[in-house]
Amino acid sequence: MVSAVGEASGKILLIGEHAVVYGHPAIAMPVRGVTARAEVEFTREAGVVVEAPDLGERAGRGDGSSVRIGPFVRLAESALALFGEQAQGVRIRLHSTIPIGCGMGSGAAVAVALLRGICSAFNRRLSADQIAELSMESEREFHGTPSGVDSAVIARDEPVYFVKGKAPQPITVGPCAFRFVIADTGVESPTIRVVQEVSAARERNRAKYDAIFWEVGSMASVAREIIRGGGPPELGVCMNHSHALLRQLGVSSPELDRLIVAALEKGALGAKLSGAGRGGVMIALVGDDADEERLAQELRNAGARSVFTTVLSGN
Ligand code: MEV
Repeated sequence: MVSAVGEASGKILLIGEHAVVYGHPAIAMPVRGVTARAEVEFTREAGVVVEAPDLGERAGRGDGSSVRIGPFVRLAESALALFGEQAQGVRIRLHSTIPIGCGMGSGAAVAVALLRGICSAFNRRLSADQIAELSMESEREFHGTPSGVDSAVIARDEPVYFVKGKAPQPITVGPCAFRFVIADTGVESPTIRVVQEVSAARERNRAKYDAIFWEVGSMASVAREIIRGGGPPELGVCMNHSHALLRQLGVSSPELDRLIVAALEKGALGAKLSGAGRGGVMIALVGDDADEERLAQELRNAGARSVFTTVLSGN
């Protein structure tokens, strides 16, 4: 019998990917149309078992070597140790509608859902920042050197201005709403690999890469001001410039560029890749909700595997 359930949304990075790994700011927002869910059940036998029926995977103590769910076994064990409940047997069943390896934070969302489920099962409270911090354990296993932006935005479940190692700041949204269409290229792209390649390229040409990171980060600060007091056309300019910078970092791909060009040709105010790049999702900013549905269809026609929408607004 399921004792408790934890849920968490996906996310997109509006501006700041890659630069955020090097200490520059980024803006991220939750995407509530996609979710991870963890069902927690007490069992007679001590130890943690994690099942992901959608992936056909199961892992438990001693066989937590599954690349895809082993890190969640260890995360659950850490949470039980934190609560002094190691003697308790727990089975956790994971489900997620968040595309994997596509820049929408599926790993961080599953970790946050799992931790929320465990908190609820044991009647414990952890703050959003404590959950974000704990979820970094599995994020490090998946991504190597994550900035922490995914965990922060998903655990807080609100748009954030994020600088690595500092407390995330909520974003103030002014009178305008900002509507985004998110399109998945269908190309899985593991974040760890792209981040490592960018790091290796930076080692070969630090001056060039650090200058680009600085400019990406300053775009995040400009975007924060636009969201506070400006409008979608200005944010669109910021997004286009950010995508140009990400291309200079070498993290776009033909599939991403094709969807971005299609979005701009069909009237998007701005478009860019979101997340690590080389695959995964792109995001496009539209003027109003009629444009949203039309552009979603155009992006499906242009080859997107799946399309989502999300709105950044003050109410
Ligand atoms: C995060 O979704 C994307 C990257 O910036 C990596 C990170 O912040 O850890 C590429």
